[in-house]
Amino acid sequence: MKERLEQLKQEALQKVDQATEVQSLKDVRVEYLGKKGPITEVLRGMGKLSKEERPVIGQLANEVREQIADAIESKQTKMEEEALEKQLEEESVDVTLPGRPVQVGGPHLLTSIVEEIEDLFIGMGFEIKEGPEVETDYYNFEALNLPKGHPARDMQDSFYITEELLLRTHTSPVQARTMGHKNGKEPVKMICPGKVYRRDTDDATHSHQFTQIEGLLVDKHVRMSDLKGVLNAFAKQMFGEDRDIRLRPSFFPFTEPSVEMDISCKVCGGKGCSVCKGTGWIEILGAGMVHPNVLEMAGYDPEEYSGFAFGMGPERIAMLKYGVDDIRHFYTNDIRFLKQYHKA
Ligand code: PHE
Repeated sequence: MKERLEQLKQEALQKVDQATEVQSLKDVRVEYLGKKGPITEVLRGMGKLSKEERPVIGQLANEVREQIADAIESKQTKMEEEALEKQLEEESVDVTLPGRPVQVGGPHLLTSIVEEIEDLFIGMGFEIKEGPEVETDYYNFEALNLPKGHPARDMQDSFYITEELLLRTHTSPVQARTMGHKNGKEPVKMICPGKVYRRDTDDATHSHQFTQIEGLLVDKHVRMSDLKGVLNAFAKQMFGEDRDIRLRPSFFPFTEPSVEMDISCKVCGGKGCSVCKGTGWIEILGAGMVHPNVLEMAGYDPEEYSGFAFGMGPERIAMLKYGVDDIRHFYTNDIRFLKQYHKA
């Protein structure tokens, strides 16, 4: 019997040792320590043993049972600890790993340029006005001395919505709107940034939608030299003190006289190069003295009041300032282009 118990013990301990899952341990427990197991059987057969043998075998059987139970338990504890250890390892967070970079946005180059120009003119006492992008034929053309059928309407191909409504082709209607609110009396000193639309075929220098900044100053005794002074201050602050301006005669129906302003070429300093097409000058904006008809239609007496107006394209300004070679870059929103102009 002793040998049998010893053999059972060896068998059971070996199975415990080999067990790789908790379930196999449970099986060993049922198999060896269960009610129908071999050890219980040994204990049951004790009646047949002699008086002297009984306590010895009984004790041995109990010891074997305990040893097997202990082995199962410690193996189970070990398995559970290992499982926990593994889980902890798998779930652990490595706090030393570098974080994922956060994408930071920034103002669009066009927004920055418009704001820069706004700040410049606010500094000179101009206020900022806005007007509708869907404009009436009256404000977009008629109030600017462009009656129906006027040939100069063709200078700006338009998107008409109805006969009387269109997408504004320039920000100049805001001149007429702003003056119209003043009952022909108070002075006006405003700029108006905004989107404008023209039926153009998009290419490197044309876009069917772009932005303009309009400027208007109306008061008593406003002269052309005032216009030149303001534009000169603007050009120097925007492009650098070393840049010169010149005014060339031009034509706009709503200004008389009309001019176009050039700035001296930065690349060649005025000598002439490929950027300025050999002229030494680069065209920046259109301007002029407000036409008496425009003042009159807005309710001002042109004998008493005079004014100047100008209109510029911020895309063109940005292209010249930063050497952007294609106006479409402003609208195709390639993040690689836009990122270059984010200020840190
Ligand atoms: N509105 C003109 C244009 O879009 C620009 C301009 C504005 C010219 C004001 C003179 C005075 O071409």
